Amino acid sequence: MPAKLELALGPLRPRNPIFSASGTFGYGQEMEPFVSPAEYGGVIGKSISLEPRAGNPVPRVIETPSGMLNSIGLQNPGFEAFISDYLPRMRQYGTILVVNIVGNTIDEYVEMARRLDSEDGVDAIELNVSCPNVKGGMQFGIEPEATRLLIDRVRQEFRRPIIAKLSPNVTDITVIARAAQEGGADVLSLVNTFVGMAVDWRRRKALLPRFTGGLSGPAIKPLALRLVWQVAQVSSLPIIGIGGICNADDVLDFLAVGARAVQIGTVQFVHPRVVRDIVTGLEKAMNEEGMESLEELVGTISAVPAQ
Ligand code: DHB
Repeated sequence: MPAKLELALGPLRPRNPIFSASGTFGYGQEMEPFVSPAEYGGVIGKSISLEPRAGNPVPRVIETPSGMLNSIGLQNPGFEAFISDYLPRMRQYGTILVVNIVGNTIDEYVEMARRLDSEDGVDAIELNVSCPNVKGGMQFGIEPEATRLLIDRVRQEFRRPIIAKLSPNVTDITVIARAAQEGGADVLSLVNTFVGMAVDWRRRKALLPRFTGGLSGPAIKPLALRLVWQVAQVSSLPIIGIGGICNADDVLDFLAVGARAVQIGTVQFVHPRVVRDIVTGLEKAMNEEGMESLEELVGTISAVPAQ
């Protein structure tokens, strides 16, 4: 009998704790030949803005040791086209559907949240307040009062769960986490990508046209674990851990530091069917450890004794 993988995430009840991270799953269509969205606890679409965005010039992705840098520039078809051309199909996916939104102003977030509130099948929204690749993309995620105010305004328009996706590019993430909670977020997801750079010194070139990009992949896992652990100490909100997760052990590491779910991203570019292996791996690990519920693991770490 397979182990039970359900773990409540605030008001959400995913069948397993694996979500696909925004920007790594499109709006599902490109992934359908490889994997059924229903194999995930939930799927999260690429950020939608009120107006369509063409995104940044290419190249947009550079591989780095144990990771990658990207600078997509929030390319997306815009809110109207998302609702008419993509959302109907996503509603059929049979798993939790999260719509990630990004705005230039608070009013833009609020407008999209208001309209999504009346759309069936949207189980939650995730607020991208942490895009490193467009001018002003991080403005709502690096200053606590801006974070609180944005979420407070969105809260007034959207009755289902709000997930605030936090940036690691701050001095103290716990201050932003507290502000998100005060604003009325239901769930925190962390972390978004780290601003990084790749250069070719012989050509005297930065390898991305806008110099910097967002670093993701296994290279960031220890950094992300630390940030999730820190936030779990100060916030009572459920946390979705994100950062370099590739296999079941990575998922369980994030649960041990306090996450109740995870998002997988970069690994899907290498192995688009990875969710199946992770689910099987979680069931195997739980059976081996005699765990009846993942709840037993959440936030249980202590430090090894000093020698
Ligand atoms: C982009 C947005 C993000 O939030 C991120 O972490 C990385 C890239 C983008 O669209 O460029």
